[in-house]
Amino acid sequence: MVTVNENYLKLPGNYLFSTIAKKVNEYASNNPDANIIRLGIGDVTEPIIPSVIEALHKAVDEMAVKETFRGYAPDLGYDFLRNAISENDYKSRGCDINPDEIFVSDGAKSDCSNIQEIFGADSKIAVCDPVYPVYVDSNVMAGRTGTYNPDTTMWSNVIYMPCTSDNNFTPELPKETPDLIYLCYPNNPTGTGISKENLQKWVDYALKVGAIILYDAAYEAYITDATMPHSIYECEGALDCAIEFRSFSKNAGFTGMRLGFTVIPKRLKASGEAVHPLWARRHGTKYNGAPYIVQRAGEAVYSESGKAEIKAQVAKYMSNATYLRNELIAAGYEVYGGVNAPYIWMKTPDGLGSWEFFDLLLKTANVVGTPGVGFGPSGENYFRLTAFGTYENSVEAIKRIKNL
Ligand SMILES: Cc1ncc(COP(=O)(O)O)c(C=O)c1O
Repeated sequence: MVTVNENYLKLPGNYLFSTIAKKVNEYASNNPDANIIRLGIGDVTEPIIPSVIEALHKAVDEMAVKETFRGYAPDLGYDFLRNAISENDYKSRGCDINPDEIFVSDGAKSDCSNIQEIFGADSKIAVCDPVYPVYVDSNVMAGRTGTYNPDTTMWSNVIYMPCTSDNNFTPELPKETPDLIYLCYPNNPTGTGISKENLQKWVDYALKVGAIILYDAAYEAYITDATMPHSIYECEGALDCAIEFRSFSKNAGFTGMRLGFTVIPKRLKASGEAVHPLWARRHGTKYNGAPYIVQRAGEAVYSESGKAEIKAQVAKYMSNATYLRNELIAAGYEVYGGVNAPYIWMKTPDGLGSWEFFDLLLKTANVVGTPGVGFGPSGENYFRLTAFGTYENSVEAIKRIKNL
């Protein structure tokens, strides 16, 4: 008799954003006149920049002509895009990452959730708490996380590394030794960055204990502090202990277009086995490549005009972040993040639980944010607002929050 993958049955409730969407939809259908401002999910609102649109049009036209039509893309990505990534994101920052160490994909979510497949089933994972839920859930699906305790909302076989205001949202090295360490900087959800010195500590630690760091740099374009690393490969030794995920979603508004990439240095080994060929094998077997037109669009992000246009777009979101941050601080809230990331991480007022504050904000102010506890137990009493909304909505949201 056919059975299901029982690990899926262990997953508690819905994915965080599905739960939020359900609550908001329910409220909206009962209150059809409510003008709801959504500062919850980290989706962008600005249109795609002109340089990318132009590249898209050109690529679409190429598809209509026999001589320039393209079928399946190369498994690991077109050279024109991998070369542009290697030069602009890595070589220009002194990181020795070659085009053939870059795997083009449809985004960072798929890659950072699928990467665990190439590691042993008994690998122990360490995650920050709070954390982007995808890292944990993908390991639950793979049966790697042990049993779930609904009281603590923690898994028995996961090392949780609390990130709170006490440690400036940078985790301490774990007491128990992990095999795979998920780090995300600039961080979702806490909106904080990591210094090069601190990141180097993690690289040194991973090299010492033989762990691999899975580094999610989806928000690197939002770094404003010139001393902060944009890539883990800016740290010495990272080529031997780190995989990096990048996305075009947040820097260039590709959330609906889908494009990202993963970097696996050829030197990276796990128990003496090279990791690069395993991911290449997996990619080749399970993935047929990001669309040609989208990869051409990605290439345009690295053109001179593209770079200037995305810089302006990122600055626009960051001016929302600055506005939200300053206004909330002025209103007496305890606020973090929003300086090197497009997320504001605020303490809930009066000791309210994260979901209590979510309900209050939705029902009283018609503003949607994300309850911190949805990202892990250490997120309780915190709340996330995104700077990806429009400026007008950010202003209106603040006005309503001030009137709570
Ligand atoms: C930390 C982090 N990684 C990855 C992603 C997903 O990126 P993509 O759109 O490239 O799949 C997100 C999306 O919100 C994210 O917050």
